[in-house]
Amino acid sequence: MEVTPAKPLHVLSSSQFDRPFLDHMCQLTDTIRRFDKSKEGLMYLQGLLAHRRAMLYFTQPSTRTFLSCQTACQILGMGTNEIRDSSTSSERKGESIEDSLRTFSSYVDVIIMRTPVPGLCDRIANLLDETERPIPIVNAGSGPDEHPTQALLDIYTLNRSFVRNGGIDGKTIMMVGDLKRGRTIRSLSGLLSNYRDVKILFVSPPEFRISDDLRQKLQQKGQKFEETDQFTDALRMADAVYMTRVQDEYDTNGESKKVDSRRFHLKAEHLPLMKSTAVIMHPLPRREELDVAIDTDPRARYWRQERNGMWTRVALLTKIFGVDRKIVLPEL
Ligand code: CP
Repeated sequence: MEVTPAKPLHVLSSSQFDRPFLDHMCQLTDTIRRFDKSKEGLMYLQGLLAHRRAMLYFTQPSTRTFLSCQTACQILGMGTNEIRDSSTSSERKGESIEDSLRTFSSYVDVIIMRTPVPGLCDRIANLLDETERPIPIVNAGSGPDEHPTQALLDIYTLNRSFVRNGGIDGKTIMMVGDLKRGRTIRSLSGLLSNYRDVKILFVSPPEFRISDDLRQKLQQKGQKFEETDQFTDALRMADAVYMTRVQDEYDTNGESKKVDSRRFHLKAEHLPLMKSTAVIMHPLPRREELDVAIDTDPRARYWRQERNGMWTRVALLTKIFGVDRKIVLPEL
């Protein structure tokens, strides 16, 4: 029987996830991937949420988050509606964003939203909780603020990469690039404090260091971290290298162009410096910070990471609608 929680499970911030939830999500995602191996398995998944509908409200550009969320819905049999530009909705006629999203809640069972506005997802979740039709909100990226579903797929990818090497506990995770405005950095670094003895090396030009509020949050959680501009030294120590691009969509006056980030680009010549067991990740899209020559290195995980996003989002939707307990492999 499908379990409908009294209050919807909103996915708003990575800070809402604890270790048992993360471990469960990794197991659940692994099991779901096994269903993908057969036609029967895929048809079973398609029946799980065939009576549910999703709204994909993406008013900030997206390729993989949009497509992986849409595909995750399709895998579970859900119908989807989409708005990808607010100028095509009645917001153009002056309708408030609150009224627009409340309107979507009249027609669908979950709203997955990407927005340039930090905090908007939380605001809408609180608003809908007070209506006669409270439905879950999934934050698929909220300005430079949070990207919790990306953090889940990053944890899944790290966990899978280190499954024969002690898991994520005890690892050194290097994060590189525009750490100040990268929402994937904020969401993932917050999650890493759920693991024992993890160290984060934040590597960036001075202009792109992590923001004060993230620094304070990590200190409060007792998360071990270092901030440095010594790219090659950090590369030698890292078990995972998490590259990110410059987030110049948040520039107010073209300030990113004045920052010389070339010293922080990962190139083929750096590969011999890295541990043989290390992994290279990137939330994508990439620019020049991650050389295409690295794609063929066995340590490159970013294309798998991207596909893992689809399976992680399938798992998340089954959790949101309480059908995760139906994801059980038959006895052999
Ligand atoms: N990683 C990520 O959020 O990519 P998109 O912007 O393409 O969705």
